[in-house]
Amino acid sequence: MQYMEEKLLGIKNNAISLILETKSPKELEEIRIQFLGRNGEVTQLMKDLPKLSKEERPKIGIVANNVKDIIEETIKTREKSLKETKSLHVSSLDVTEPGIKPPLGHLHLVTQAIREITTIFAQIGFTRVRYPEIEWDWYAFTSLNFPENHPARDDWETFFIKQQSDQKKGTVLLTPHTSSGQVREMEKGKFPIKMLNIAKTYRRQSDVSHTPMFHQFEGLVVGENMAISDLKGTLNYFVKSYFGENRVSRIRPYHFQFTEPSFEVDITCGVCLGKGCRLCKEGWLELGGAGMVHPNVLKAGKVDTKKYTGFAFGWGVERVLMMKEGIKIDDLRILYGNDLDFLKQF
Ligand code: FA5
Repeated sequence: MQYMEEKLLGIKNNAISLILETKSPKELEEIRIQFLGRNGEVTQLMKDLPKLSKEERPKIGIVANNVKDIIEETIKTREKSLKETKSLHVSSLDVTEPGIKPPLGHLHLVTQAIREITTIFAQIGFTRVRYPEIEWDWYAFTSLNFPENHPARDDWETFFIKQQSDQKKGTVLLTPHTSSGQVREMEKGKFPIKMLNIAKTYRRQSDVSHTPMFHQFEGLVVGENMAISDLKGTLNYFVKSYFGENRVSRIRPYHFQFTEPSFEVDITCGVCLGKGCRLCKEGWLELGGAGMVHPNVLKAGKVDTKKYTGFAFGWGVERVLMMKEGIKIDDLRILYGNDLDFLKQF
């Protein structure tokens, strides 16, 4: 009896290892026949059961049936796993199956606007320039005729950088406006000037129409006999080219330290087209400032004030974008919120 029991267990172990090595249903079927078929090893052994004594027969019968069940169960499991492997194998090799498209990005809305503005001004001879974003007080304020106690120098407006200040150029700060490029451009000493400075600017502000980081584009023209009519013509050209004929602009007298006279330029709101809404309140949105360059600024830039005069304007890129027809943004902060559902639209 012990001999039969050992033989059955040997058959079981052998069968299991052979089943696990099979690579196809055909091989599996061959193993099934080898062990459980009519002349299979287990079947043959069971034929010897009547030779055993009455007491031994049921015990060996139970062992034999167990071995049979285990072999059948292992065959079923192997059959299933072979099927799964096959389907995996087939799909990974199916070169005709359509691929998954990788998500394609595009230029950010603000970058698109910067490129469009650059092209519009290039058509009338403006050259794009770049100046540091981390700047001396001298270029951002003092050279632009700002007095020592001007509120723009206050911490609540401008981001100051903890760095040793310079005896002549003062403290270090993040450019609060692109006007910091004016004197830098004049210092080059090449006239006439027709520059377009587009850059990141920083202020401690955040609400529906203000972000702490935004972009400005600054035009500066310095040449002989420059007049307000040249400034007005340039503004009109831009408004018509960028916004279209249906938008209306206006200039209001204003005050900037670095221009005299100074103006604020407004345009009818693109969301409500002048009726008044959450964004603009009264139908008009402020585009930015403009004016004739103050003689003190020309002097700071070592410009011959008897020969040259100039005009300048500085507007917000996000604001002009927001005011463009068809782009209805009623909260400027969404531009920098990284919301792909919003950004994908443009
Ligand atoms: C200036 O910054 C002047 N340097 C503009 C200028 C240049 C005047 C040359 C005269 C001659 P102002 O602070 O108004 O002006 O800002 C200009 C424009 O920047 C605003 O009209 C607005 O469109 C935009 N702007 C200002 N602050 C923010 C902000 N926090 N978020 C988004 N846009 C802003």
